[in-house]
Amino acid sequence: MPESPYLVIDPERVRANYRTLDAAVTVGTRIRYAVKAAPVAELITLLAAEGAEFDVASIGEIDQCLGLGVAPERLCYGNPIKKSAHIARAFALGVRRYAFDTEDDLDRIAEFAPGSEVECRFLSSAPQSRTPFGTKFGCAPAEALRLLVRARDLGLEVGGPYFHVGSQQLDPAAWRIGIEQAGEIVKALADKNIAVGAVNVGGGLPISYADAAPELDAIAAAISGAAAEFLPAATGLIVEPGRALVGNAGTVHAEVVGVRFAPDGRRWVYLDIGRYNGMAETENEYIAYRFVTDRDGDPVSEAVVAGPTCDGDDVLYQRTKVLLPTTLRAGDRIQILHTGAYTASYSSVSFNGFPPLTVHVSGAERE
Ligand SMILES: Cc1ncc(COP(=O)(O)O)c(C=O)c1O
Repeated sequence: MPESPYLVIDPERVRANYRTLDAAVTVGTRIRYAVKAAPVAELITLLAAEGAEFDVASIGEIDQCLGLGVAPERLCYGNPIKKSAHIARAFALGVRRYAFDTEDDLDRIAEFAPGSEVECRFLSSAPQSRTPFGTKFGCAPAEALRLLVRARDLGLEVGGPYFHVGSQQLDPAAWRIGIEQAGEIVKALADKNIAVGAVNVGGGLPISYADAAPELDAIAAAISGAAAEFLPAATGLIVEPGRALVGNAGTVHAEVVGVRFAPDGRRWVYLDIGRYNGMAETENEYIAYRFVTDRDGDPVSEAVVAGPTCDGDDVLYQRTKVLLPTTLRAGDRIQILHTGAYTASYSSVSFNGFPPLTVHVSGAERE
């Protein structure tokens, strides 16, 4: 057994998630995997074989997908923040789909990736998700309309409007709000004789952690229902999940490094994994992971859970109520469930000398 911490991802669970989503969405909906969630070669190859497209955020992710034999036509350079040199490089590599949210980015796509298809990301009025983007991305809907007209005038292919309701979005109504707004844009474009290829309804599809999330079926039903209500019949759909495809397929295997009672009496449990080697999404305690220990069944009490570095911010949970066995001690193994998304991919530097989280692809992971 390798030394912990490490992440084990079950590829068959990822395949099952893809098929569940594919069966739940309207026929013809394109599924585009957001590689950033878990840029693991085996998963990219598997999803490519299932028919997925790929949302890539950088030249690094483009190179990785192409290196695995994914055709460039199946990639969308979906990050609205990109250098001109990277647009040119992506274009030279064959990428012909780009997302943007500013006129400047659009103009540079027209210059460095001429004739490509573009999707304009607008800021939808959807309610906040668990790990929100805030206002970092997306123009106003009226601006999206103006920019997509401009895209046509610049000789680009109009892909369509695009929104992302924020990651780990627990409210299915969020997609309804976004699709209604996208529908207004699509209809206004049609009035100008600009046909939209597809509306990209983004990612954000949630999974269950300590708290249960709506099932994929419920989200897919909300998307399909809103599409039928607000979009012209021929409009295609793209869904761009990361977390929902890989999150529940991964388990982090970790170890208790020590247990301490602070002067205020609170019990601290220190793990060999923390904020900087995989548990980045515990920032602001946004994501409440579930823990499984070898001592489950013993009496439990509240614990602060912290990572192994000397950084004061390397604390996973101190406000969230985490109950762990009172018998837990140094050397005990601990599993952190549903950690397939946004764990290893965040953990890429050896802060404090702790190596990035390693990934093993195998086996059936725990529900
Ligand atoms: C552009 C883009 N698309 C899709 C996703 C996937 O989101 P999620 O993992 O919430 O499905 C992200 C996540 O950050 C993103 O930035």
